[in-house]
Amino acid sequence: WKYRDRAYRYCLLDTGHLLENLMLSVRSHGFKLRVFYDYDDHLVNSFFGLDTEKEASLAVCSTLHDESQDLVPARHTWNELPDKAQEASNVSGREVKYETIIQIHTSTLHPMKRYNGSARMDNLLGLVTRDEMKIKELPSWPANLSYSEAVFSRRSRRNFINQPMTRSQFDSVLDALCMDRAPASGFCPISVALITGKINSLSPGFYLLDREVRTLRIVRKGRLLENMASICLDQAWLANASLHILFVSNLRVLDETMGSRGYRHAMLEAGRIGQIIYLLATSMGLGCCGVGAFYDDEATRILDLNESSKPLYLVAVGPVKAIK
Ligand SMILES: Cc1cc2nc3c(=O)[nH]c(=O)nc-3n(C[C@H](O)[C@H](O)[C@H](O)COP(=O)(O)O)c2cc1C
Repeated sequence: WKYRDRAYRYCLLDTGHLLENLMLSVRSHGFKLRVFYDYDDHLVNSFFGLDTEKEASLAVCSTLHDESQDLVPARHTWNELPDKAQEASNVSGREVKYETIIQIHTSTLHPMKRYNGSARMDNLLGLVTRDEMKIKELPSWPANLSYSEAVFSRRSRRNFINQPMTRSQFDSVLDALCMDRAPASGFCPISVALITGKINSLSPGFYLLDREVRTLRIVRKGRLLENMASICLDQAWLANASLHILFVSNLRVLDETMGSRGYRHAMLEAGRIGQIIYLLATSMGLGCCGVGAFYDDEATRILDLNESSKPLYLVAVGPVKAIK
């Protein structure tokens, strides 16, 4: 009800945050988690008795997965859940059916296309970049909290102050953004752009991060944080952050290379990286807040992206009023 048709985006991004939390938590117990974006939705949904008029699975993960076994037992029909169980999942007395959401989700049910080409999303946004900076692999990050302390104290913080982010904090964010993630289909569905303000030893500007070869390239110098704050429905506090991390994708290319399931993949991936940044920022004593509310076309125009490239998610980071 709050986000209406746009809610589908939040479901995907939030699920990405949850997936990464689960991944880190499972890993902290010494296990591995495998995430599947591409699976048979009908089978999984019916296995869990989902009411597919209202509910959907968005990703599947397994721990201690045995590669030789099928992911889901190969039984194609399941007994319907009793009505009582289905009623229990009603969360509101009056439910509104958002046809657009159902249409979008239905179109993502097709299997993901495999991609063997060499195209890269970073080169498909219509941006011209220059001045390459190499991103260091750091032995450690200047974190003051343990993983579990960061999880328990993480909050969305918006009270950014007019103080610079240190260069080592910024380098840690870059290092975290470049952490190894093999794309699920041979094609990385998102690019990461950085809009920077006050950061020690870095000019304010608009940068593009190449996560594969670990370089940062400048697109344009000058402050853009105020423009971004106004694009984000005039959320003025955003202009005080040191850094906006913007996940972008060329939606036309995404559709052509991965099929319509690619959108789901892109949004889940953006949410997952967003969660890592939330935890890293918290552990370094910085504030962080995800932002899903923006005018897509305005962002495309201000950032000079080509017409089919759109922002998916923004994460703001920077020093905040003392965290108590
Ligand atoms: C995908 C996503 C989009 C969000 N968009 C906004 C936003 O546009 N503006 C805002 O102030 N907060 C935004 N938030 C922050 C949420 O309001 C916040 O996460 C939620 O209220 C829960 O609070 P917590 O993060 O402190 O636990 C967003 C968070 C996520 C995960």
